[in-house]
Amino acid sequence: MKVGILGGGQLGRMLLQAAANYDVTTFVLENDPTCPAAHLCHNFVLGNINDYDTVYNFGKHLDALTIEIEAVNVDALEQLEKEGVKVYPTPAAIRIIKNKILQKQFYADNEIPSSAFHITQSSSDLLKHIDFLPAVHKLGEGGYDGKGVQVINNESEIELGFNAPSVLEKKINIQKEIALIVAMDANGKTIIYPPAEMIFDPVYNLLDYQLSPAKLEEKQLWKAEAIARKVVNGLKSPGLFAIELFIDHQGDVRVNEAAPRVHNSGHHTIEANYSSQYDMLLRILLNYPLGNPTAILPSAIVNIIGAEGFSGDAVYEGLDEVLKMDNVFVHLYGKKQTKPGRKMGHVTIISSDYQDLTHKANKIKHTLKVGTK
Ligand SMILES: Nc1ncnc2c1ncn2[C@@H]1O[C@H](COP(=O)(O)OP(=O)(O)OP(=O)(O)O)[C@@H](O)[C@H]1O
Ligand SMILES: [Mg+2]
Repeated sequence: MKVGILGGGQLGRMLLQAAANYDVTTFVLENDPTCPAAHLCHNFVLGNINDYDTVYNFGKHLDALTIEIEAVNVDALEQLEKEGVKVYPTPAAIRIIKNKILQKQFYADNEIPSSAFHITQSSSDLLKHIDFLPAVHKLGEGGYDGKGVQVINNESEIELGFNAPSVLEKKINIQKEIALIVAMDANGKTIIYPPAEMIFDPVYNLLDYQLSPAKLEEKQLWKAEAIARKVVNGLKSPGLFAIELFIDHQGDVRVNEAAPRVHNSGHHTIEANYSSQYDMLLRILLNYPLGNPTAILPSAIVNIIGAEGFSGDAVYEGLDEVLKMDNVFVHLYGKKQTKPGRKMGHVTIISSDYQDLTHKANKIKHTLKVGTK
């Protein structure tokens, strides 16, 4: 089978690493020939994933097509789907998720718990919602890695808001942020991975450190799983989905957002689970049976992020020391250039002992740094 991926970042790269186990010819479309996935696919096509003709021409000879980023030309995918190309996730699901306004509307329509919200067309609309603050303003389209998300605590912070179609969400008093990965095959059968628990770096708003399985009360896990499944069943799309959820201080569980693709919250599944998220998505694309999402051992992920004050050719400090640690797995994404906050790689730790995970995660955070020459 010929399988194509729109986007050639690290998620595409890890998907291709899993694809090497199967009887599949891989294609990647991306406009940067030095992207992390470029040299790992059979066929690299240089082009813009947002351009109708480029995406259509890329997809028309393929058996199956998937994405590693939502910002793609959905009209072209719709046409390809009509012509019989298997597009997982479906273009309809991508359309809902890639726009945060449509995504919030979808949760409301399907009675999926999510924070209360208003839609704003421009920054002046925020003045109508002073009583709704504190809230979080989110760009409808075009945000990534926390850019496009702005907390507005009170009237004096209104000027920080976006002057474009956005959602204004009630600010949740977060106790815990978790993510659940759900996969659905072509027959509508679903599996769910154990939850991952996240802590965010307040400076860049990027994932700082993650543990899985998350330590949750049984009731919280049930609620989270029910919500995650409801999202995927509502989208009615085969593929792999990451559902980010908030647990507040009352123990209420709400969906934050969904991604219709492999996700940074699932990197650990490469070493820590029987079937990784990447393996699982390939199985779905290739019409193979679903894999086993169960954790072999608990795990932690530390992201390798470009250090503040360094831009240019990346140099990794402390790498040898981390590579010498037991049950620690280093993934560098092959990005030549670093800049502050850029995701350059990640490290997965597996252990039956949560204290060992935390200890090693902290050690790695303080040892491994990305700078320049
Ligand atoms: N309603 C909310 N209440 C409180 N905090 C929130 C709310 N929405 C978002 N946040 C905080 O902001 C972070 C980023 O928000 P969100 O996940 O919607 O944006 P994003 O641009 O998709 O970011 P990323 O790409 O890092 O997932 C969340 O992980 C959470 O910590
Ligand atoms: Mg998010």
